[in-house]
Amino acid sequence: MSDNKLGQFPSTRLRRLRMKEFSRRMVSENNLSVNDLIWPLFVCEGNNITDKINSMPGVFRYSIDNILKELETVVKLKIPAIALFPQIDSSLKDEKGSQAIDENNLICRTIKSIKKNFPDLGVICDVALDPYTNHGHDGLVINDVVDNDATLEILEKQALVQAIAGCDIIAPSDMMDGRVMRIRNILDENKFQNTLILSYAAKYASKFYGPFRDAISSSSNLKGGNKFTYQMDVANSYEALREVALDIQEGADMVMVKPGMPYLDIIQKIKSEFNIPTFAYQVSGEYAMIKGAIDNNWLDSKVIKESLLSFKRAGADGILTYFAKEIAEELNNE
Ligand code: PBG
Repeated sequence: MSDNKLGQFPSTRLRRLRMKEFSRRMVSENNLSVNDLIWPLFVCEGNNITDKINSMPGVFRYSIDNILKELETVVKLKIPAIALFPQIDSSLKDEKGSQAIDENNLICRTIKSIKKNFPDLGVICDVALDPYTNHGHDGLVINDVVDNDATLEILEKQALVQAIAGCDIIAPSDMMDGRVMRIRNILDENKFQNTLILSYAAKYASKFYGPFRDAISSSSNLKGGNKFTYQMDVANSYEALREVALDIQEGADMVMVKPGMPYLDIIQKIKSEFNIPTFAYQVSGEYAMIKGAIDNNWLDSKVIKESLLSFKRAGADGILTYFAKEIAEELNNE
């Protein structure tokens, strides 16, 4: 910017607009709204269960009946969508993640009862095998490698059973190459042309997922201890653009960046390069850090909103956050 455009002190004083609350509101560039929020939820088997997750204070695993109770508030608050994650009994996990394609599995039963009770609430479901495999990987392990093409065979079936159950948005989080195309094809072949795909396009091999893996009990069995052969190297950013470009070509309606706050640069790059609906996932480890500091009185709870606004500044169209419900309550009371 030329000096001319900037103006000059003392005729220009940037503090002038900051002096009163009304003028601060008039010039605020970004706003957080309930429409921006997606609430991730953990579902488990049983009745009347609300289970604590140690590394995520304030977040719970709910049985289906208790999810329905929670969703009454969610719908009242006008949160547009939720994202569902199942905790599968260890007795049902196997090498191939067979439960993932069972049309009566926990996630399909959950979708059906949510859709019956709250038909207008958007339901997002992960497509990946990690909740279902006894080795904790997102795909099939063949000769010690997570095999891309063999995994696609299962992922497309997993997407289809979820769409049949009534899922609105299929969210592949497995990071196999070519999965968006395969999922789009099978959905279209089965007359689910309007089922949306939200691709976890830029998903990093991050340590910030630790608490989530506890929540779905996939951490203790993660063979090899990491997902480096399929999730992205945390050092890379241009590679994220290639991931997004491919997913758009393959039919993704929306893309996601994950984790959130440490990857705001990626959100901004994607949004300015592609202008596609772009979502951020403020993941479990980010939640744990913020929540832990607030619970210890090290930080004021206003940091939650500040963290969510950072996603809006970066260009995100929406945010998956475990804080969705409490922030929606706050926004509705403003
Ligand atoms: C599964 C999946 C993960 C998350 C969402 N879907 C974990 C992983 O890839 O290991 C993480 C979410 C969070 O940490 O809140 N593929």
